[in-house]
Amino acid sequence: METSISSRIEALSKDIELISKDVQNEDEKRKLQGIFAQATSKLQQPVESIWEIIMSPHAPTALMVVIQMGILKAVVDAGKPITAKELANITKGDEMLIIRLMRPLTAKNIFLETDITTYTSTPISQTLTAPPLLGGYQFMFDCATRSLANLPTYLTSTSYTDVVSTPGPFQAANNTADGMFPYLMATPSKMANFNAFMAGSLETRPDWFRTFPVPTMLLADAKPDASSVLLVDVGGGNGHDVEAFGRAFPDAEGRLVLQDLTPVIEGIQRLDARVERQVHDFFTPQPVRGARAYYFRYIFHDWPDDVCVQIMKHTAAAMEKGYSKMLIFEWVLPEKGVPLYPALLDINMMAVLNGRERTERQWRELLGRAGLKVVDVHKVGEESEGLIEAVLE
Ligand SMILES: C[S@@+](CC[C@H](N)C(=O)[O-])C[C@H]1O[C@@H](n2cnc3c(N)ncnc32)[C@H](O)[C@@H]1O
Repeated sequence: METSISSRIEALSKDIELISKDVQNEDEKRKLQGIFAQATSKLQQPVESIWEIIMSPHAPTALMVVIQMGILKAVVDAGKPITAKELANITKGDEMLIIRLMRPLTAKNIFLETDITTYTSTPISQTLTAPPLLGGYQFMFDCATRSLANLPTYLTSTSYTDVVSTPGPFQAANNTADGMFPYLMATPSKMANFNAFMAGSLETRPDWFRTFPVPTMLLADAKPDASSVLLVDVGGGNGHDVEAFGRAFPDAEGRLVLQDLTPVIEGIQRLDARVERQVHDFFTPQPVRGARAYYFRYIFHDWPDDVCVQIMKHTAAAMEKGYSKMLIFEWVLPEKGVPLYPALLDINMMAVLNGRERTERQWRELLGRAGLKVVDVHKVGEESEGLIEAVLE
C-alpha cells in the first residue's frame, strides 16, 4: 500500500509537471490552479483550513512593515545574504523587531533564511520590487485592508444591508465623506502607486484586443477618415491600455483618445504620440461624439448601480446610433460557481468603492437603464474577464 501510494504520488507529480508546461492560456491556467487549491484543501483537516484562514492577515501585515521600513529593498539590493543586525543599521529599525517580522516571510519563501537571522531574496521578493507590484501592494494594504478589517463593524451598523451607495465601508473606515479616488488624488505618491498597479495589471491579463475579435467588431466598419475617433478609453488611467491597442493596430485609421481626471492626465510621464490626452470627468457630458468605440476597463465595478447609469447615460448621449459601440472589459460572473478571484474582487469593490462585480443578467439590466442593449458578451471562460459589447437601444 505504502509503495503504491508513493508511486501514485510520483506519477501525479510528473503529470502535474507536464500539464503545467502544456497549459495554453489564462483560463486553463486558472482552472488548473483551482484544482490544485481544491486538492490541497481536501488533504487538510477542516480545522487546519480554518486556522489557515484565521492566520491569513498576519504575513501580509508583516510584509507591509518590511516594505515600509525599507527591508525589502535592502535585502534585494544586497544581492547576497544580509543579517538582521545589518538591516537594523540600514533601516534604523530594531533588530529584534526585524527578526520577528522576517519569520513568517521566510516561512512563506518570500525571503530565504540562509543562516540564523541572515536573509537573502527569493524570486518572490525580487519580483515584488517591480513598481506595479510594489505600488499595488501598498495601495491595497492602505485602501483595502483597513476597510476590510472594519467591514464587519460597518455592516453591523447598517443592519446588514447590501452596499449599494455612498457613504459605505471605505468612508466609515477612514472617517471621511470622500470616495477612494479623491483620497488617492490628494496624495500624489498614493495615486502613483495606484496607477502603477493598474498599468501592471495589464501584464498579467491577456490583452482584450488580441483575445476578442477587434477586426470584425470595430475595425471592419469604422469610418475610414483619420479625423474620426476610433476609440475613446474612458477613465483610461496612464493610457497603458489604449497605447497598447494603438501598437497592436498601427494601420487602423482613426484617432485614439485617452480620458481621465486632471491629476491623472497631468501626471502622465510618457505616452505614444498617437494617443490624444483629454481631461474629462465622466459625470459630465461626453465631449467626443460619434466615436466608433467608448471603451471602459475596470470602471463600472468601481461604482454602485445608480452611479454607473449616470456614466452610461452621458456616453449614450454621445453615441451615434447604428455606429458607436460601448465596450466594457470586466468580469461577467456566472450565476453559480463564481471562481475565487472575482469572488474576492467583488468583496474588495464593496469594501473600497461601494462597487461590485456583476453577472451577465445584472450587466444587461444596468445597460438597459441607460438606453443601451447588449449585442454580445465575449468570453473565453469563467476564469478571466469578458468584453461586453453594447449599442444604443
Ligand atoms: C480602476 S481604474 C481603471 C483605469 C484603467 N481603465 C485601467 O483599466 O487600467 C479607474 C480609473 O477611473 C478614473 N476616474 C475616477 N473617477 C473619474 C471621473 N469622475 N472621471 C474620469 N475618470 C475617473 C481614475 O482616475 C482611474 O484612472
